[in-house]
Amino acid sequence: MGEPTIPMNLDELVVQAQADFAAAADAAALENAKAKYLGKTGQITEQMKGLGRLAPEERKAQGAVINVAKEKIEAALNARRDKLADDQLQVRLNAEAIDVTLPGRGRGMGGIHPVMRTWQRIEEIFGSIGFDVADGPEIETDWTNFSALNSPENHPARSMQDTFYIDGKDTQGKQLLLRTHTSPMQVRYARMHKPPIKVIAPGRTYRVDSDATHSPMFHQVEGLWIAEDISFADLKGVYLNFVKAFFETEDLQVRFRPSYFPFTEPSAEIDIAFGSGPLKGRWLEVSGAGQVHPTVVRNMGLDPTQYIGFAFGSGLERLTMLRYGINDLRLFYEGDLRFLKQFN
Ligand code: FA5
Ligand code: MG
Repeated sequence: MGEPTIPMNLDELVVQAQADFAAAADAAALENAKAKYLGKTGQITEQMKGLGRLAPEERKAQGAVINVAKEKIEAALNARRDKLADDQLQVRLNAEAIDVTLPGRGRGMGGIHPVMRTWQRIEEIFGSIGFDVADGPEIETDWTNFSALNSPENHPARSMQDTFYIDGKDTQGKQLLLRTHTSPMQVRYARMHKPPIKVIAPGRTYRVDSDATHSPMFHQVEGLWIAEDISFADLKGVYLNFVKAFFETEDLQVRFRPSYFPFTEPSAEIDIAFGSGPLKGRWLEVSGAGQVHPTVVRNMGLDPTQYIGFAFGSGLERLTMLRYGINDLRLFYEGDLRFLKQFN
């Protein structure tokens, strides 16, 4: 205190405030300028404080005059605030302006996943030789996935495939699981159709498995042909025809290597070897296969003395890897566009 307030013409004060506000280039500067007039020790505030020293009559008159000045200053302040906000908005609008006259950039076209391409090709190739295409549940019962396929409970073959079990049973009390292969479709389809049965069933399968050639979710395609006179020789012919069409080359060999599956007898793994290209001369497994076991034919509701046939189950990722020369199956499921774009 102490310092005498220099009485100031209020009109001059208003003009000065207007000039100060106009000079404020941004919100912070404007707040500083405001403090000079309307802040706790601002000039208008000081003038108000001075009123107490005046006689009641004079106080009333002077108070009214100060109020008018205060209102003018506040109006100038608000006007400047609005202007600064507008300016800022304008700057943003200009910076983010969209030139609507530019030609569109277009929407990125999605593409078909390489494994799905394989799926489509398989349907086309087998469709062309009269195979039906069927679809089945990914959540299976332990009966369809194993028992119907001649792997009774506690059969060691069950541990050939590490199973994801589901907490829960179906309405008939059968244990639920994620199907470990597409083979349950053999029995499902055959129980609903009359022979001759000629079908492929592509789809997702699941196993507790993960490395460069194994993924916990992968795809298989089941093939099944049941009739009165279908032999292992037909399996060879059909599969050889398929791989030649699929890999688009005649320059490959197919080999049936003896193996074991509870649901086929005899059983084989199918290997192929290319006559040229980067994989030249190497035998590569693409599928399990075999002649359908009589017990499975019976579980299909058919008489095994009358009906005979073959089945195979091939890995779609595996076929895709060979077709495109990919060495790590996990690339299919990382969703990296740089990888996926190569196929589209
Ligand atoms: C089977 O799953 C049998 N159901 C195949 C079969 C069907 C035999 C009909 C006889 C008659 P296997 O476990 O070998 O067999 O699997 C078949 C193919 O699936 C393998 O050759 C491989 O290509 C693929 N596969 C298996 N596990 C995985 C996995 N974790 N990730 C990717 N592909 C896999
Ligand atoms: Mg195998």
